[in-house]
Amino acid sequence: MKQLRIRLKENSYNIFIEDDILFHLSFYIKEIYQNKKIYLITDDIVEKHYVELVKNSLKNYEIEIVVVPHGETSKSIEVYSSVIKQLLDLDIRRNELLLALGGGVIGDLTGFVAATLYRGLPYVSIPTSLLSQMDSSIGGKTGIDFYDRKNIIGCFKQPKLVLIDPKTLHTLPKREWNNGMGELIKHAAIGNPKLFTMLKHKPEITEDIIYQSLCVKQEVVEKDEFDTKERMLLNFGHTFGHAIELKLKLKHGEAVALGMLMILQFGMDVGVTNQACYKELKNILKQYELPYEEPNYKDYLVEIAKDKKNLAGVIQLILLKDIGNPLFYPIKESDLKELMK
Ligand SMILES: NC(=O)c1ccc[n+]([C@@H]2O[C@H](COP(=O)([O-])OP(=O)(O)OC[C@H]3O[C@@H](n4cnc5c(N)ncnc54)[C@H](O)[C@@H]3O)[C@@H](O)[C@H]2O)c1
Ligand SMILES: [Zn+2]
Repeated sequence: MKQLRIRLKENSYNIFIEDDILFHLSFYIKEIYQNKKIYLITDDIVEKHYVELVKNSLKNYEIEIVVVPHGETSKSIEVYSSVIKQLLDLDIRRNELLLALGGGVIGDLTGFVAATLYRGLPYVSIPTSLLSQMDSSIGGKTGIDFYDRKNIIGCFKQPKLVLIDPKTLHTLPKREWNNGMGELIKHAAIGNPKLFTMLKHKPEITEDIIYQSLCVKQEVVEKDEFDTKERMLLNFGHTFGHAIELKLKLKHGEAVALGMLMILQFGMDVGVTNQACYKELKNILKQYELPYEEPNYKDYLVEIAKDKKNLAGVIQLILLKDIGNPLFYPIKESDLKELMK
């Protein structure tokens, strides 16, 4: 078992990572919740795999279940309002607990419901996809998509507790697996060179690997809870990644994989990134069967100027000098033209 405490100015919480933790959820939940009713929110795929097990493991509670369709489309105003209606029909009270069981979609949606219904309910997160386990369970970002823009409505809301069972990864489809691997490699590349070396041997994804990945995120999130500075390091690979994700119809983690290569190519061109670093990254992406033939970053320079994370005409790029050695590289929009040549 591995444990992490996320220390924030307010609302600190624990993350427990343990194989088969799904079998003894009550043990952990009773520490933070004393009422009888729990409202479990999940999607139709995760429901089939895990809801019975979770219900059995929470026998001493009264469980109500709200199921939404799987996939990103559930991060919508329509599904959000349907979840709220169902919860109100189930007579939810303001001090009762929401439980998010599923991938990042369920985490973001449930977190946003928890942040807004009655101006705030407690919630516990049980992430079941690799992406949600190694990434979105830390940071408190919640929200939904709107008007064709991802995560455009949302807020920060910390869970009371996060419970991670790496064994749920056994039922994850291959492409979802890869999706998480892209971000896992990113965490290793920006903050943990030893983990990066470990990953080269394609180890089984264990409690320890998830723990180490979360530690990279923890370090930056604790320094920068509201995403203004250090946390931007997590954006490595995302500037170009976002630009190609929809265009090339990639999963987010696949786009980040290519986005990392594009920014490292850029880093080599401006004399910051070592060639060995670029090669190491390319090799590891090949090993995990992630895409590794990146588009020319110059074709996307116009696009990246539109990224919502840009502030006042300055694009904050994240480069690596070497694996484990990231740096900020701010560039003025007006200087982009020079680079396009
Ligand atoms: N809040 C954050 O900090 C944060 C960070 C990264 C990503 N996100 C968000 O997370 C979302 C992506 O998360 P995701 O990749 O987990 O997507 P997802 O929630 O859609 O899950 C991917 C698919 O895997 C299925 N699934 C999940 N767990 C499973 C399991 N154990 N066995 C079998 N199938 C399983 C789901 O039903 C779904 O079809 C995006 O909306 C993204 O914006 C949020
Ligand atoms: Zn990402």
